[in-house]
Amino acid sequence: MNLQHFPRRIYTEYNTPIQPLRHLSKILGGPNIYIKRDDLLGLTGGGNKTRKLEFLVAHALEQGADTLITTGAVQSNHCRLTLAAAVKEGLKCRLLFEERNRKYDPNGNGNLFLDRLMGVEKIKVVPDGTDVVSEMDIMKQELESEGRKGYIVAEGGGNDIGAMGYVNCVHEILEQSQEMEIQFDHIVTASGSGGTHSGLVAGIHDSTVNIPVTGINVRRGKFQQEQKVYGIIRNLVDRLDLHDDVPREAVHCLDDYIGPGYALPSEDTIAAIQLLAQKEGILLDPVYTGKVMAGLIGLVKEGYFSHDSNILFLHTGGTPAIYEFKSTILNQHILG
Ligand SMILES: Cc1ncc(COP(=O)(O)O)c(C=O)c1O
Repeated sequence: MNLQHFPRRIYTEYNTPIQPLRHLSKILGGPNIYIKRDDLLGLTGGGNKTRKLEFLVAHALEQGADTLITTGAVQSNHCRLTLAAAVKEGLKCRLLFEERNRKYDPNGNGNLFLDRLMGVEKIKVVPDGTDVVSEMDIMKQELESEGRKGYIVAEGGGNDIGAMGYVNCVHEILEQSQEMEIQFDHIVTASGSGGTHSGLVAGIHDSTVNIPVTGINVRRGKFQQEQKVYGIIRNLVDRLDLHDDVPREAVHCLDDYIGPGYALPSEDTIAAIQLLAQKEGILLDPVYTGKVMAGLIGLVKEGYFSHDSNILFLHTGGTPAIYEFKSTILNQHILG
């Protein structure tokens, strides 16, 4: 599948590394676990949204927008990166925060600090469960009444335009896999807004390899999340004019590692964060990647992967948020 004719901005001028997690693999007694470092993508603080924003912002510029509008939870990585893309493009950015299991604190650390530092134009805060799509429409109308033109970036960049970033990522992974002479048998990723997961599944389906992808949910139940991911894939199939439909069974999500709720880590999440920090020197976050790593470790322990297989963990970023969770991470008994 050739994405060349879709408008795209380039925010990362290199392939993100794939590295072996030797200590973790040894501790778990196999399989061979590798990590794709999308936490090292371009734009301020990195993370998976950068790949999606390359296509989403190109679309916004094509429409003549002068302001990006988007939404997320109060420690949203997606909001921080949308703002960073706006700064890079000389656009303005307005954010809508939903207080999902966490209150907005104007003096908050982590992503909130970075949002202020990068000069977010306006912040609107709404309670959990608000219809954020309608709220963003109102924000867009407000801009229009000021003679400006807003572009709404879907929550989490989770639509078919954003997902093209992860179709591209599949091309990158396959190129690296050839260079490294390693065949990956399974990919494990976070499944939130679904853009990352759907792009990976569609990209693999359209390739010459068949690598199963397991999505670890961070918020929704298994069925609801699988439907969400599959919905994006269907739009992606239309957008990219793929000859072949992606089967529904290719979408596989697990909801066993969400813990107490969105942005609420379980003990296993914190243990996974500590383990990766102490054994690999890699930072994971309590909202997404810590849960995904807890999921991967849980799956290894239950014998889900064959002993000598090569598993690719996608590090989707989120590192700036950990500073806001310092006490949660340190209050649990430290390993080692
Ligand atoms: C660090 C991080 N990982 C994973 C995700 C989930 O990715 P997606 O929204 O593409 O499902 C997000 C979404 O906000 C995120 O910020």
